[in-house]
Amino acid sequence: MTDHVKVERDGKVMVVTLDRPDKKNALTVAMYRKIADSLIEADNDPSVRALVLTGTGDYFTAGNDLGDFAAVNANPNQERELNPLIKEGPQFSKPLIIAANGPAIGIGLTVMLQADLAIASERATFRAPFVNLGLVPEFGSSLLLTQFVGAAWANDILLAGRQLSAKEALDIGLVTRIYSEADLMTETMKAAHAMAACAPSAFKESKALIRAERRKHLGEAIQAELKTFTAQLKSDDFKEAMAAFSEKRPPNFG
Ligand code: COA
Repeated sequence: MTDHVKVERDGKVMVVTLDRPDKKNALTVAMYRKIADSLIEADNDPSVRALVLTGTGDYFTAGNDLGDFAAVNANPNQERELNPLIKEGPQFSKPLIIAANGPAIGIGLTVMLQADLAIASERATFRAPFVNLGLVPEFGSSLLLTQFVGAAWANDILLAGRQLSAKEALDIGLVTRIYSEADLMTETMKAAHAMAACAPSAFKESKALIRAERRKHLGEAIQAELKTFTAQLKSDDFKEAMAAFSEKRPPNFG
C-alpha cells in the first residue's frame, strides 16, 4: 500500500513528493504526518542540508482532503488536533524549498509562506477558497499573507477567493522564481544543492533572525485559526459546501 508521499535523497537534499495524483494530491491526515515526520527527520539528520517539497502529476495539491474534513463533522465532540505539518513547518530550521509543479489550493498556497525559497512551474496557479467552503484561513496565513503580499492582495486571495496565475504570484511576491514545466525540477534541485552547500549554522541563525518578528505572533495566529476553523467545520455552511462538492454543484449558503 502506498502512503502517497515519496521521500528520497539526492546527496544532501531530501526530496518529499506528494504522490496521490488521482486525487490531485489532496492531503490526508496520514500524508500530513509523513511530511511532518520527514521535516523532523531532516532537521535531526546532520547529513541532510535542505528539503524540497513538490508534487507528482498535474497538481501540486488540491489542498486538504475534503473527506477528512467532513469526518470531523461526524463526531462533533471531537477536538480537532493541529495538523502536524502546521505544527512542524514553522519549526524547521534548514532550507525549505517548495516547488509548486501545478495548481496549489488551500494549504497548497498557505504552505508556500513557510518556504525559504518558493518556486512555481509556469502552469501553477494559487487559490485559497476557504470562504467558498464555509471555512477560514489556516497555517498562520491570516497573519503571514498580509506580511508577504500586503493587505489588499491578501484580501483578494483570502476573502474574494481570487485564483492567481504563476506570473501574478511572482509579481506580488508569493513566489520568487518561475520555470517551465520541463525545467522546474532541474532548476529547483540546482537551487536546493546551492542552499545545501551553505554553512549550516549560519543558515539556521539567519533563518531565525529573518523570522524572529513573524514568530512572535505566529503561534497565536495559528491557535486562533484552529479554534475558528474547528467551529466552522461544524457549521451548516461547511455541510452545504461538502454536499455541493460531492454533488458537483455550486454551494447555496442561503
Ligand atoms: N479532497 C478530496 N478529494 C479531492 C480533492 C480534495 N480536496 N480535490 C480533488 N479531489 C478528487 C475528486 O473528488 C476526484 O475524485 P474521483 O475521481 O474519485 O471523483 C479527483 O480528485 C479528481 O478531481 P476532479 O474534481 O474530478 O478534477 P477536476 O480537474 O475537475 O477539478 C479541482 C480539480 C481540484 C479543481 C476540484 O477537484 C476541486 O475543486 N477540488 C476541491 C479543492 C478544494 O476546495 N480544496 C480544499 C481547500 S481547503
